[in-house]
Order: sequence, then C-alpha cells, then structure tokens
Amino acid sequence: MLHKRERPGAPSFRTFLSTVFSYRKKAGMAAWMLHRLTGLALVLYLVMHIIGLRSLTDPVLFEAYVSTFRSPLFKIAEVLLLGSIAYHAFNGLRIAIQDAFYRSENQRRLFYGVLAFTAAVVIAGGLVLLYPYFIMPLLP
Ligand code: HEM
Repeated sequence: MLHKRERPGAPSFRTFLSTVFSYRKKAGMAAWMLHRLTGLALVLYLVMHIIGLRSLTDPVLFEAYVSTFRSPLFKIAEVLLLGSIAYHAFNGLRIAIQDAFYRSENQRRLFYGVLAFTAAVVIAGGLVLLYPYFIMPLLP
C-alpha cells in the first residue's frame, strides 16, 4: 500500500528545485510569472476599488477616500498599477494572438518587445503622474 505522501511519478523536491532554478533563466518563465503577478495585482486593485466605491453614497466618506489619491505615495502606487496594466495587456495580447493566429519561433524577442512597450507606457504615464508631485517642486 502506498503511503499518503508517496505519489508514483511525482517529481522529487530536488527535481522541483532544479527546475525552478533553471527556468528562472528563461524569458518564458519570467513572462509567465510577471503575467500571473500583474493579473493578481489587478484583481487586488479591483477588489480595493470596489470596496472604496461604497463611499459614493456619503460625501464625507467620499472626500476622505479621494484625499488618499492625492498623497505622493499613492502616485507611486499609481505608476506601479499602470505598469501592471500595461504589462498584463501587452503580454496578454502576445499570448492571445499567438494562440489564435500564429506561433512565432522568436518568443524571447516578442517578450522583450512586450517589456519595451510596457517601459514606454510607464515612462510616459509616470512623467504625467509624478510631474506635479516630484518634478515641479524642484523647478526654479
Ligand atoms: C487588456 C486586458 C487584458 C488582457 C488582454 C488579458 C489577457 C490575459 C490572458 C491571455 C491570460 C491567460 C494567460 C495564459 O494563458 O497563461 C490572462 C490571465 C489572467 N488575467 Fe488577464 N487580461 C486582461 C485584463 C485583466 C484584468 C483587468 C485582470 C484583473 C482584474 C486580469 C487578471 C488575470 C488573472 C488573475 C489571470 C490568471 C493568471 C495566471 O493564472 O497565471 N486580467 N489574462
């Protein structure tokens, strides 16, 4: 009889570790991990946003809710949110397009393209979001 923990064909812990560490060097693993992380971040944001929207019925609560949006720390969180949305959207499109139409042999290059588009959105959006808080006060 098999012990509860003995699963035939299941990889050993050592195999698991070596797989995780060898995969870490691959762009595909990084793309998948980032996609999952950003997907979970978006779910978390959506839950927080819906909870926050409960204050819509009370003007005092709403003002307190909106005032947190004006803090500099929140602006940095907004840039991170923008980066999560951009990465998830661009990488999601890469996955969807290759699933539906065309499977490229050059996934690494496509992944770097996704990163470049994400960086462009984060830099452009980040400048707009952070300028009044971090750059304008430094100007003469
Ligand atoms: C531009 C809009 C979006 C696109 C194109 C997109 C695309 C995708 C795709 C293609 C997958 C499957 C990835 C795979 O097969 O490995 C996926 C997974 C996922 N998406 Fe999105 N998505 C979008 C918006 C969102 C939003 C708004 C949320 C959250 C509120 C979200 C949360 C998730 C989560 C949690 C997963 C599962 C990740 C995993 O299990 O690894 N996505 N998305």
